[in-house]
Parts: sequence; C-alpha cells; structure tokens
Amino acid sequence: MLRVLNAISDVVQNRPPPLREFDQIYMKVADMVVQAEYVARVFNGKDVVFVGDGDGIALSAAHLKAQEVIEYGPKSITLLDFDERIVHSVQRFGEMMQERVKISAHLYNVADPLPDEHFGAYDGFHINPPWGASNDGASVAAFFERGSQATKDKSLGIVVIADDPDLPWTQTVLRDTQARALDLGYVVAEMQPQLHLYHLDDAPDLRSCSCLFRRIDARRMEARSEPLTPSRLLNFYGRESPLRVRYVRQKPTLNMDRESDRVYTLEPLEVGNE
Ligand SMILES: C[S@@+](CC[C@H](N)C(=O)[O-])C[C@H]1O[C@@H](n2cnc3c(N)ncnc32)[C@H](O)[C@@H]1O
Repeated sequence: MLRVLNAISDVVQNRPPPLREFDQIYMKVADMVVQAEYVARVFNGKDVVFVGDGDGIALSAAHLKAQEVIEYGPKSITLLDFDERIVHSVQRFGEMMQERVKISAHLYNVADPLPDEHFGAYDGFHINPPWGASNDGASVAAFFERGSQATKDKSLGIVVIADDPDLPWTQTVLRDTQARALDLGYVVAEMQPQLHLYHLDDAPDLRSCSCLFRRIDARRMEARSEPLTPSRLLNFYGRESPLRVRYVRQKPTLNMDRESDRVYTLEPLEVGNE
C-alpha cells in the first residue's frame, strides 16, 4: 500500500495548481488510486486517449505500471488538454516512463474539430469533463463526442461525472449522457456509483461515478469531427461562464521545479560586518 501511495504522491506533486474557473477541481488521493487501478485494468495493453486530465489519472495508471506496483496498464497514453501547464507537466513526467508506457500530450480544445492524427486512432478514452450543472450536460456530451471520435470501432470509454441521488441535476446529466452514448452506438458496460471525492470547498461531499461505455454499433460512429456550435459553448463551465478561452498558456518562469516566482519575493538577510 505504501508503494501505491508514494507512486500517486509523485503524480500529485507534478500537478499545476487547479484553475477553478475552468472546473479544474482535483480528485482526492485515495480515489485517484482506485480510479488509476481501474483505468490500468480496463485499458491493459491498449492505446488510450484522455480528453482532459488535470487530476493526473493517466500518469497515475502509467506510473503504477512503470514502478511495477501493478503488472498491468495501458500500452500508450495520449493526453489532449487545453491547458499548456498540464500538457507540459505530463510531457515532463512521461519522459521518465517512456520505456514502460509511451506517453504524449498535446494542446487541444474540445470546441475545435479533432485533428486528423487523433481521429479513430485509439482503443479507448477517458474523460472527467465539466459536469454540466448549468448546461444540461452539454459539456459532458462535448467531451464524450471527442473521445468517441478519437477511438476505433471497438471503443471503450470511461466517463467520470457527478453522481449524487439527492442532487437532481446530477441524475439528469447522467441520464442524458447515457442517452447520447446510446445515440453514438454505446451501451453501459459497468457503473461504479458515487465513487470519488474532490478538493471542492463549496461542495466537499459531491461525488462522481465512473461509468464504462462499450461501443456495440460501429454504424453510429461519426464520420467527421465538427467545431462545437456557439450555443454549445454557453454555460460550459457554469452559469454565465461560457467556453471563451482556446488555450491556457504557461508563462515562462525561472523556477521550473519550484513554486512560481510570481507568488513570493525574497527579503534579504542583512549581514553586518565582523
Ligand atoms: C474540466 S476538468 C474536470 C475536473 C477534473 N477533476 C480535473 O480537475 O481535471 C478536466 C480537464 O479538462 C480540461 N479542459 C477544460 N476545458 C477544456 C476544453 N475546452 N478543452 C480541452 N480540455 C479542457 C482541464 O484543463 C482539465 O484538465
């Protein structure tokens, strides 16, 4: 157990600070262990794409395998994320594991069509999108569609979204996500309800589930990837918070491996003459 926690701790240490305005809200460590082990099992030997992954579940699954804490895990992991800080942090960490798990990360915004190189390229996808409380799940559907477009006909998709039976919006989004998945030729293969907790000050008890979808009808695959229409960008990150940013860019800092030099200053110790 200690080796598991130390491996996940390496990943947690590598994550940039979360930006709440873009729904970056990080999963708690014990739940990361559960999710990363699950991802490693479901995607054992497969090429997997993560559409967004501030939590670091992709690196956690890869690191558990690379450190030989578990014997299984994905063959390769590709991250697509609009936050350059996350892309760089995954590239940096991934370099250390290239021999055991091939890791790559690219800047990509789900508002844009999926680039050709990623279309139909992977065996499975993983998403933990903005949970869609204020847009009837449109943000979840957008991430799901990109994951689906990025995968081959025998696609598996893991979707992590809010799940609290006492919060009606979570159940409506869950239902609508499953309905959209059916449209796209998937069935629910497994469902782990109310599984994870997050570092979320204003709703510390809000949990997410992990839902595994399997594509059974390749005829329903989308032939092309189109930009999201403007109406689908509204309330993307919450009420009055539309998708208006293409990329979060990383500012250069002198302290690559330490706290940003923008959040502190150094006050010199005055040393007198002897
Ligand atoms: C929306 S957050 C969901 C919460 C999750 N626990 C987390 O913090 O990663 C998931 C990931 O999606 C990324 N993301 C947010 N908006 C995006 C967009 N428009 N296109 C691509 N990735 C996006 C974030 O940078 C983050 O890595």
